[in-house]
Amino acid sequence: MTQKVQIIIDGKTVDLPVLEASNGLNVVDVRELISEGIYTYDPGFLSTAACDSSVTYIDGDNGVLLYRGYPIEQLANQSSHLEVCFLLLNGELPSQTQLSSFEQEIQSRMPVDDHLQHIFEGFTEHSHPMSMLCAAVGGLASLYHDGLDIYNADHRRETALNLIAKIPTLAAMTYRKTKGEAFLAPDPSLNYAENFLHMCFGKEGERPNVSPTIAHAVDQIFILHADHEQNASTSTVRMAGSTEANPYAVMSAGIAALWGPSHGGANEAVLDMLGEIADESRIEEYVEKAKDKDDPFRLMGFGHRVYKNFDPRATVMQESCHAVLNELGVDDPLLRIAQKLERIAREQDYFIERKLYPNIDFYSGITLKAIGIPTSMFTAIFTLGRMPGWITHWDEMLSAPFKIARPRQLFLGPGKRDYTDIKIRNVDENLRSH
Ligand code: ACO
Repeated sequence: MTQKVQIIIDGKTVDLPVLEASNGLNVVDVRELISEGIYTYDPGFLSTAACDSSVTYIDGDNGVLLYRGYPIEQLANQSSHLEVCFLLLNGELPSQTQLSSFEQEIQSRMPVDDHLQHIFEGFTEHSHPMSMLCAAVGGLASLYHDGLDIYNADHRRETALNLIAKIPTLAAMTYRKTKGEAFLAPDPSLNYAENFLHMCFGKEGERPNVSPTIAHAVDQIFILHADHEQNASTSTVRMAGSTEANPYAVMSAGIAALWGPSHGGANEAVLDMLGEIADESRIEEYVEKAKDKDDPFRLMGFGHRVYKNFDPRATVMQESCHAVLNELGVDDPLLRIAQKLERIAREQDYFIERKLYPNIDFYSGITLKAIGIPTSMFTAIFTLGRMPGWITHWDEMLSAPFKIARPRQLFLGPGKRDYTDIKIRNVDENLRSH
């Protein structure tokens, strides 16, 4: 039965159609409300669908995450990141022939133009990798702009291949810049994750030497981060893309949004927090701080806007984290603090009542630290993983009619008033009235 929602505005009943979702909640179509002279209000988009999409489905209450219908646990344990990239971009899993040719296409595009490499000369060893990535990915726009038609599906595909291929190279370059080391070119004999690790940690002139367990864990991290429906950075990509901007610049906007500690910067923030706690004896003190309403401190790596029971990515990441720690024989005091924090969060009423569970960032931060990746690189790795998701959403938006994203506002500022000459202006009074 077709549902509708009725609202009454000044005694007039307005019928709003309800759009049926293939999975999950239906959506009230409020577009006609503007003709009734009223807007909807939903800061932070807590209950607003800003688009329709067929890419990723999340059921936050039941801890479900599906890419194109496939459960994240199955993809993380049985596929590879490039297979997932193919799935996201094309909607279906590839055949062996399709996957091999896709891997080949990515491999051949991994090197980065010599000119672009000079962009890193403007940075120092202390520059944050995310600031370099914003610049480098945005800088790709200078190489791929003239002749790029975003309404041409072949051009969009070429853009997708380019970005997925070059992001590991650029991310590894940011790492080597922070180390003051010369860049290392991708090695065609290595797979995607191995190549990233080789470009980060390899030695010029030496044969690549990458542990398969570590490469597998990193590949899983890429898969787990590959898409997450309309999160802040993906919505930023859609919003910037809706202006018809150059896609490389659009992805740079996504990178900027991802950098924030409430989003992709969270796993870096987890490690900073564990380092600040520093000793198991201080855990209780920090837990009390997190519960104190007058203290802005929050337990980093806990809670999620969408997952209110458990984060399915955290479950996979927890296993992978332990596999890496076993392989490397790491007995890290920060991990002991992390495990105790996890226990507390599962036991204390404050966290149980608010459904605050460890999220993926909690475990990915510890895994990356064990691998030897510095915390400032964590969000760059998230960027690498999320790139196919951003491109897929950008492509999905451009494949159908869309409007430039232009939200409305509830205006609470002053009404029209006359300009007063500065000589007779009573500034103190103006400030007081605000
Ligand atoms: N530590 C302590 N208390 C918390 C935390 C936390 N990490 N997260 C939420 N709360 C509390 C809030 O204070 C609030 O309490 P109240 O009801 O008494 O006011 C309640 O839980 C609900 O919090 P909201 O802010 O409304 O939850 P929201 O869904 O808006 O926020 C967010 C989600 C931003 C992720 C939040 O939980 C947070 O800041 N977590 C820490 C940062 C983090 O780990 N971010 C990673 C997100 S996942 C990702 O980007 C891949």
